[in-house]
Amino acid sequence: MKIIYQIVALSFLMLLFTNCNNKKENISTSSFLNNNIEHKVDSVLALMTLKEKVGQMVQYNGSWDVTGPPSNVSDKDKLENLKNGGVGSMLNVVSVRKVREAQKIVMENTRLKIPLIFGYDVIHGFKTIFPIPLGESASWDLKIIKKSARIAAKEASASGINWTFAPMIDVSRDARWGRIMEGSGEDPFLTSKIGVARVLGFQGNDLSKNFTIAACAKHFAGYGFAEAGRDYNTVNVGIHELHNAILPPFKAVAKAGVATFMNAFNEIDGVPSTGSENLQRTILKEGWKWDGFVVSDWGSIGEMITHGYAKDKKQAAELAVKAGSDMDMESYVYQNYLEKLVKEGKVDISLLNDAVKRILRVKFKLGLFDDPYKYCNEKREKTEIFTKENQDFAREDAKKSIVLLKNSTNLLPINKKIKTIAVIGPLADDKDAPIGNWRAKGGSNSAVSLLEGVKSAVSKNTKIIYQKGCVLVKKDDKQHTGFLFPLTFNTTDKSDIPAAVNAAKEAEVVILAIGEVALQTGEGRSQAKIGFSGVQQDLLEAIYKVNKNIVIVLMNGRPMQITWAAEHVPSILECWHLGSQSGNAIADVLFGDYNPSGKLPVSFPYHVGQEPLYYNHKNTGRPFNPVNVTYSGYTDSPKIALFPFGYGLSYTTFDYKNLKLDKSEMNKDGSIKASVEVTNTGKIEGEEVVQMYIRDLVGSLTRPVRELKGFEKISLKSGETKTVTFTLNRELLQFYTANNKWEVEPGDFNVWIGGSSKAKLMTSFTVK
Ligand code: BGC
Repeated sequence: MKIIYQIVALSFLMLLFTNCNNKKENISTSSFLNNNIEHKVDSVLALMTLKEKVGQMVQYNGSWDVTGPPSNVSDKDKLENLKNGGVGSMLNVVSVRKVREAQKIVMENTRLKIPLIFGYDVIHGFKTIFPIPLGESASWDLKIIKKSARIAAKEASASGINWTFAPMIDVSRDARWGRIMEGSGEDPFLTSKIGVARVLGFQGNDLSKNFTIAACAKHFAGYGFAEAGRDYNTVNVGIHELHNAILPPFKAVAKAGVATFMNAFNEIDGVPSTGSENLQRTILKEGWKWDGFVVSDWGSIGEMITHGYAKDKKQAAELAVKAGSDMDMESYVYQNYLEKLVKEGKVDISLLNDAVKRILRVKFKLGLFDDPYKYCNEKREKTEIFTKENQDFAREDAKKSIVLLKNSTNLLPINKKIKTIAVIGPLADDKDAPIGNWRAKGGSNSAVSLLEGVKSAVSKNTKIIYQKGCVLVKKDDKQHTGFLFPLTFNTTDKSDIPAAVNAAKEAEVVILAIGEVALQTGEGRSQAKIGFSGVQQDLLEAIYKVNKNIVIVLMNGRPMQITWAAEHVPSILECWHLGSQSGNAIADVLFGDYNPSGKLPVSFPYHVGQEPLYYNHKNTGRPFNPVNVTYSGYTDSPKIALFPFGYGLSYTTFDYKNLKLDKSEMNKDGSIKASVEVTNTGKIEGEEVVQMYIRDLVGSLTRPVRELKGFEKISLKSGETKTVTFTLNRELLQFYTANNKWEVEPGDFNVWIGGSSKAKLMTSFTVK
């Protein structure tokens, strides 16, 4: 029986591989065979030796030079292993030429010719760079977010890539954590919606199309909850917090069909995520019935030794494969020990079979078996990357991501016919900061700078005076040698400030670009201080002394401590690292061509000591007592946010009224409609993100003081009113209860609808 099956499988494979070289026949072959993917996967698996199975579970970094002879021993070994079918995937091999060459080695030398899958960190664009994910999340615009992922996929797939290590959907509540820039902030609901939009953008509804690539939900799980915001640090959350605050975005993207997951560097409650059977097998694969594959994070399997969880590499491999890590990124422990572990009976072959099937399934879905070179189209690479159309969209995306934090004297928008304007700051003409970290093929210094944007926006008669105010310097960092951290703000040299002050004296309005350089956030970029680094604060205060008409253009990857600025400066625009079209997009907002509509996806603190800071916290037994110090606050700082989650202003104003429910009671499986009237009470058209929050007043476990459960971005003309309606149902009201189940508990709920997490209009209902 087995032999017959193998013969059938072999003939299928022979047809398949003959056709790899002949695309026309390919199409007829696939229809002739009319096999579904599962059958194909089983057929291939049936032919594989143990060694070949292990090979599929190995991923190499592309440091190995595919165009020339290997440069050292390990590169030589890499080449040999590629030829022997010892590698299933490569990362960081980018460009049609390089991908084709690597794929060719496998197709021409290995016995089974199973194509490689090529992964790359396409995080916020490929060459056309969009706002960093945290910034783009501030748009709360799911269509825009999906489209930017789609364009990133188009560009990446035109350059040989068929798998991105994105989206990062780690809920993150600590501004000190450098990787907060890669996610969607502090809220699981918003992160879920955005995560799904990104997955659908990257993958479309058919992975076999040329323009789509496999997505990867990362980092599973808890990485954003690192203690003290220190990257890779220990995570201690209870099982309920894990399910209620960390896992929902992962569950949402698993349901939406994300092709792959990446596990995380951190331990969680004593178990490294990479070695967690509970996370990867019980919850993800069995619980959510998800059929994609899990790749480890870079070297994370080997790091289980350093964690003190595995005694050596062999045990690390054993623990990881048992836990459900299907592919080893750069630890080399699967390659070196899996075969042995199976032969010694320590690891059951069924675990490898399961992992390999998952990997093959994704390769089949991508169409790689039909044509291993399908992402290797030189013409596409020349014509579809960094196009005018993509640049136009990048500008649209960037302007929608800007958040107006303050405009107390209506300094904004600025009239384009203004006589004299000063554009000041170390980031004002910096073409690099806006590209941000995780920039894929986005070139250094490739963004439209703020100064360039302002120049093309204002009238011919406007005089623009530009001054740096303080220069960026090469980072002299003895502690972090070998670490990519090229430029930083100088901390001592104030000699450029006087010229900036003179410019400010002369101008009607000062636009001051300050914040963070591109690589100040991202992996390994945690900071204990989150204020303006270097002499930027000195520059700001010196200018403020001579001209109070300041608009701060904040460029940054994390919520910053901007307390002094928020108290003194009349206008502040949160501009994140906005990508290729940054300067044009900011000018659109500065000069009123676009009315800002972004809302913060993270809370901004008064002081770094408040971190982690998030609106959806618990109440505690002593939430507030104005006359007594023994309550949950600080004696030297407010405990609330300087700018809360969901907050953002517009050049117009919105009024909320008539918050209504269609009934005041529902049963657990019923639903309630909540509606509100929103009116544009200002003089110009604008967009508003209408947000709905709930509080479950009493539970078998304590519940957050507020939780976002719905949002809609609407556009209103001056004087126009729209009614926005949300539906509350089981899916939105349930939580992971004391019974360790997702349940709706009977009781009273409050509902707020408004323009931020501080929304005031409130009503209540009861679940029977
Ligand atoms: C990061 C991942 C990334 C991987 C590959 C790791 O250091 O944590 O997010 O996808 O490198 O570049």
